[in-house]
Amino acid sequence: MTLPIAVCVSGRGTNLQALIDAIAQGRLDARIVFVAASRKSTPALDRAIAAGIPSRAFPPAANGGRDAAQTLMAAAIVGEGAELVVLAGYDRILCDGFFARLGDIPVINIHPSLLPAFGKLNGMTVHEAVLASGASETGATVHRANAGTVDEGEILVQRAVPVLPGDIVESLAQRVLAVEHEILVEAVSFVSRRAVAT
Ligand code: GRF
Repeated sequence: MTLPIAVCVSGRGTNLQALIDAIAQGRLDARIVFVAASRKSTPALDRAIAAGIPSRAFPPAANGGRDAAQTLMAAAIVGEGAELVVLAGYDRILCDGFFARLGDIPVINIHPSLLPAFGKLNGMTVHEAVLASGASETGATVHRANAGTVDEGEILVQRAVPVLPGDIVESLAQRVLAVEHEILVEAVSFVSRRAVAT
């Protein structure tokens, strides 16, 4: 079964691109039916447009505030027929109304650390915290996202990444990002196969 998925984005969209490329190269049996952005004019939306994927921005200011914008976003996701929602760099906490409107459609999130370590941190602050802690390894995690929680939920795929001597935030972030792109594709594939089995 080719899984119809929606991808929620906010920024540069390299994880979205990893999914687009994996599908185009036949490595992932899925179809991106919709890309939803928390704001206008992000590189991630440009990637969706370039790939011919229906997309829309839901900026809170233009949609009655955060909760109304996210509920509208969920309604659009349902309307496009998605059976999985992938949070790929979506930078806002999702309201209960978003999950309620999705009903049984599962939501997964990618986070650039070995959860539960270094959860609830955003962007480069994750890597800063890893370096400051002196940890010898970090990694990336794809997990289920549920209403009322941040960076929690069933872990689907997780992979370690070494912290190397001389690493700075940028070098570590780059090494982790390459692994994010791999495990996000694996996680979508895993959910897709699990959907067939149940
Ligand atoms: C990634 O590091 C992801 O783990 C985090 O936000 C970043 C998004 O990067 N949640 P991109 O927009 O996919 O390039």
